[in-house]
Amino acid sequence: MRGILLAGGSGTRLRPLTSVCSKQLLPVYDKPLFYYPLSVLMLAGMREILIIGDDKNIDGFRELLGDGSRLGLDLRYAVQEEPRGIAEALIIGRDFAGDEDVCLILGDNICYGQGLPATLSRAAANVDGCTVFGYPVADPERYGVATVAEDGTLLGIEEKPSHPKSNIAVIGLYMYSNDALAYAEKITPSDRGELEITDVNRLLLAEGRGSLVQLGRGTAWLDAGTQDSLLEASQYVQVLQKRQGLQIACLEETAFNMGYIGKEQLAGLAQELSTGSAYDRYVRSLVPA
Ligand code: G1P
Repeated sequence: MRGILLAGGSGTRLRPLTSVCSKQLLPVYDKPLFYYPLSVLMLAGMREILIIGDDKNIDGFRELLGDGSRLGLDLRYAVQEEPRGIAEALIIGRDFAGDEDVCLILGDNICYGQGLPATLSRAAANVDGCTVFGYPVADPERYGVATVAEDGTLLGIEEKPSHPKSNIAVIGLYMYSNDALAYAEKITPSDRGELEITDVNRLLLAEGRGSLVQLGRGTAWLDAGTQDSLLEASQYVQVLQKRQGLQIACLEETAFNMGYIGKEQLAGLAQELSTGSAYDRYVRSLVPA
């Protein structure tokens, strides 16, 4: 399975913060927002990852991470010319995917929790059509909302319904079997002018090829698309990191723990990261004696 991280969108709700900088490059406490979803792809076992950004900002992502080899990754970059919707990422990423299945994650979604990597790798091994992930929220009308049968079967998904049929939001993380990528070509733009990922998922579901994995209470899912949610995400990360002395979404640590880089390579990275920043000091503290 290959990963696609979509860091497009115009970020209008966050202006002027996003007037000259993409939303996904804004800080969530001590690192750029997109580090969090990138680490989720890495934890789910993906090393080949396409980052899609807009024309103005794509170089910022490239400058931060380059070809990914220092983290044992193969990172590629592509441009989404206009914010034409999440489903366009499947069209832009089709060549990159080759014959492989795809996991698409939105660059402003933060998922964190014990057991999440295992849940994701289990799901990745088993995709036919699409697999979406559900999370209970207090304000489902802001999201794609899943209707679920008593036995957990996914019955339907509605995009931002004014009268949600459940409190299960469909989070910004989706898995597709390779043939399902073509379904993104079959849909037309919605009233807000976007190719909706929910429309792709509904097509697959209509063919009986959509499933839902529900994330439990022990998982945190935050989206950072508004001023308040961006601040809350920073506070969440700050509280956990200060309490535990462990970093969330430290890419060097994730790469090392996943076996993408070895001890020597980690030591080399630690030498490069020699500023006094808390992040750099943390990476240096990870090098085994
Ligand atoms: C998008 C999807 C929605 C999903 C949400 C998750 O919404 O359309 O189904 O629940 O991401 O963050 P948007 O952020 O485009 O409003």
